[in-house]
Formats: sequence, C-alpha cells, structure tokens
Amino acid sequence: GRKWTVVESMDAEMKDHSVLVRGRAQTIRAVGKNIAFVVLRERGFTIQCILTAKPDFVSKQMVKFAAGISRESIVDIEGVVSVPEKPITGASQQVEIQVRKIYCISRAIPNLPINIEDASRSEVDLEKADKMGEKLVRVGQDTRLNYRVLDVRTPANQGIFRIQCQVENIFRQFMLSEGFVGIHTPKLIAGSSEGGSAVFKLDYKGQSACLAQSPQLHKQISICGDFGRVFEVGPVFRAEDSFTHRHLCEFVGLDAEMEIKEHYSEVMDIVGRLFVTLFDSLNQNCKKELDAVNMQYPFEPLKYLRNTLRLSFEEGVQMLKETGVEVDPFGDLNTETERKLGQIVKEKYNTEFYILHRYPLSVRPFYTMPCADNPAYSNSFDVFIRGEEIISGAQRVHIPELLITRAESCGIDVKTISSYVDSFRYGAPPHGGFGVGLERVVMLFCALNNIRKTSLYPRDPLRLAP
Ligand code: 4AD
Repeated sequence: GRKWTVVESMDAEMKDHSVLVRGRAQTIRAVGKNIAFVVLRERGFTIQCILTAKPDFVSKQMVKFAAGISRESIVDIEGVVSVPEKPITGASQQVEIQVRKIYCISRAIPNLPINIEDASRSEVDLEKADKMGEKLVRVGQDTRLNYRVLDVRTPANQGIFRIQCQVENIFRQFMLSEGFVGIHTPKLIAGSSEGGSAVFKLDYKGQSACLAQSPQLHKQISICGDFGRVFEVGPVFRAEDSFTHRHLCEFVGLDAEMEIKEHYSEVMDIVGRLFVTLFDSLNQNCKKELDAVNMQYPFEPLKYLRNTLRLSFEEGVQMLKETGVEVDPFGDLNTETERKLGQIVKEKYNTEFYILHRYPLSVRPFYTMPCADNPAYSNSFDVFIRGEEIISGAQRVHIPELLITRAESCGIDVKTISSYVDSFRYGAPPHGGFGVGLERVVMLFCALNNIRKTSLYPRDPLRLAP
C-alpha cells in the first residue's frame, strides 16, 4: 500500500515532503477560477490545502472539481507540504499542502443540519461573530444529539471521547496493578439492586426482571467467591424521571469491591490513589485532547492534593453551618449544598477533589454497614469533583441476619434478593467497594455543564436514538 500521512502529525519539519492524506473537506472556498482552498479535517485536526491552477500544480478543471465538493465529503489529497510566512488561523496545523491531486471518495449530501466549523466555536467566539454580523448557525443540544454522527466530529468532542477512553483504560490498569480481578456481572437481574423504584422492568420468559441498576449485588457475591478484589466496567441502568444536567438512564459504571481487613478507610485509600493517578495521567497524556476541549469550553485545570482530603459528614455539616447554610445533620446533601460545600472546601484546602465519609445511615442503601460506634452513621462515603458527586462507596453488611433486617426496614422484598443474602451464609469476609460514573468523571474533570456532552449516545427519559 501507499504511505499515508496523518494530519495530526504534520509540522514544519515536513516542509517540501510529498504527502498523501485522507480526511473530510470541512470548508471549500474558490477564489476565481484558478485558486481553491480546502480545509481538510482528520479526527479533529485540520490542515489548509491549496489548489492553484498552473503548470506542475493542478489544472483549472481540478480547481473547478474541488470547488464543487460538498462539505464533510471524504477526500484524498496528494501534495507537497509548504510553510506559510504568516501563522495560520483557520486550521490547527501550522503547515499547508500545495495540492497536486484531489479525489472525492465519498460525497456528503449538501445542506447539512450541522455546520462543523460553527459547531466547534466557543460561546465567546460565537458572540463575537454575532456582533461582527457574521452569518452563522447556532446549534442547540437537541440538534447536536439528533445528528450526533456530525456533532461528534468537532475537535472538542473528539477530545472528550478520547479522554473518556483514557479514564476507562487507567481505571483498568490501576485496578489490575492493585490485584483486582476484572469480572462481568449480569445486567438482567430479578430485582432492584439499589432499592428504590428507578428500575427498568421487563419480562424475562414469563418471570419479572429488571435491568441492573448497578453490579452491586453480584460484585459482593463475587467477594464471597474468593476473588479478594474485583472490578467491573459496564452499563448501569436507571429509570430516572428527572431531567438534570447529571442524570442519564444508562451510564457506564466503573465498579470495585474488595475485602476489608480492618477499616473502610482501606477502600478510601484505593479511591484516593486511583484518582490522583488518573488526574496525573490525563494531564500528562491527554494534553491535545484537553486543549481541544478547552478551546471550545474553556475551563481551569482541576485542583487536587497528592493526599486526597477526607472530611466526615459531620465536619461538612459544621462547615456549611459556619457559612450560614443549615442542613439536616441526619439528612442528605442536595445538589446545591454539595456545590456550596465544594466551594468552602476549595477555599479552605485548595482542592476540588475530596471524600466525604461517615454519612447518616438513613440516607444510604440497605446494604451499607452501620458505624460500630454509632449506628446512626454508616461506614460510607461519597467523592466529589468540583462540588459534584462522582462516586459513592461503603463497607457492606456481610452478616445475613443484619442484611435481612436492613433490607426489610428499607422496604425491599427479601425474596427478590434471597440468593444474594444466602451467599453470606457460607463464610463472608468483611468487604466494601465503590461505584464511579464514567460520564460524570469526564464531565467534571473538564468542567462541562451537561452529562450529555460526555455520553456518546446519551439515554435520558426522552431520548432513545440515535
Ligand atoms: O451513587 P450510586 O447510585 O451508587 C451505586 O450504584 C453503588 N452500588 C456504588 C457502590 O459501590 N456503593 O452510583 C454510583 C455513581 C454515582 O456516584 C454517579 O457518579 C454515577 O454512579 N451515577 C450516575 N451517572 C449518570 N446518571 C445517573 N442517573 C447516575 N446515577 C449514579
């Protein structure tokens, strides 16, 4: 085969080299009959390609042909790399291609519902363009999601989903290095795994079943099966009725469960180290992707400490109280009070990533272990990025009798979870774990304002396509 050059790799060192590239014609502009400019885009990176009708370059017919190519069509270009005197503003790469040949491989229909160039601009940029009287088409979120196949072509979106891939990858690598075993648990289960009514019910060959709200029950059963430490990356289903910026009906869960020798802080240790490793790695290895996101959605890099800050729920309540925010010491925090506490913590400790632990038992799921010294509290925690929850975790009840009492008091039909409860009757180690929402991690690391931006094909109460 021939040698193909990747747009992302093209720089001034390639001056005078002949190259062959494939990409999309992002914009096509003819200047008279002798010159045409094509901005070629490949995976979010763009390069200016110039067709000039003159001997040894291209023919007039080829300029005309190029001028007629529709936006987003896939083209192959052969040409020679040149370095212009002035910096290039309309493309990401700082070199150009003097075209010798251009082929159209696949034509896009004209009049696309999304103009990728406009859809790639920041809000500030759009406002400026508006003031200058530039004709541009703003696209709302629904249009973007309806035509996700186009929307996802913007540099920011290309960055977001490459970052997401890295988060998953680092999670796996870290868990493996800590002795966790990757498992897969069933997504068709008999009952609710988190309690509550937010489950998708379905008919399972005559039996009533649910789409798993989490791998909670089976990851715990696996601990009773002697794996010691397990993790899973998989879909999680929640029949959420709410339209918020951070809830989806299907998301990707990064879950972990482990034996605890002495204290649930062993689980928090893992969480702290996992996330410092993750943040470091994203900052080091995803620079281009983060820059691409930043260009469209400007954000400050996340502040985090080498040793993850831990605060007790009681301390959190106290800190809120000191700033005049009263919350129920045995209730849960809400979006607003979580954000507020996030701000206070940031000012006081200079971190936007922290763990809040020892929650009131009454606001935690039935499987959560009460505190030994005060059963009004529990051995549980939530983890926050920029004042929003990304993780919840806890030590679990491994004593069958207590588990039944807890389930009943939470209104759960114990019959639907009997095989789960029974698995603790054959000797069960103390254990705990946590669940991370992948889309939330990416959303909050990049300070994006909506979880739909970090879900490739989001599912919310109204969206089942594409
Ligand atoms: O807080 P949740 O519901 O906890 C569990 O599922 C437990 N089984 C975890 C454990 O091991 N104790 O969900 C865990 C995380 C949340 O912190 C959040 O990041 C994410 O999953 N999450 C959602 N993400 C998107 N849309 C939703 N509807 C979400 N619900 C939870």
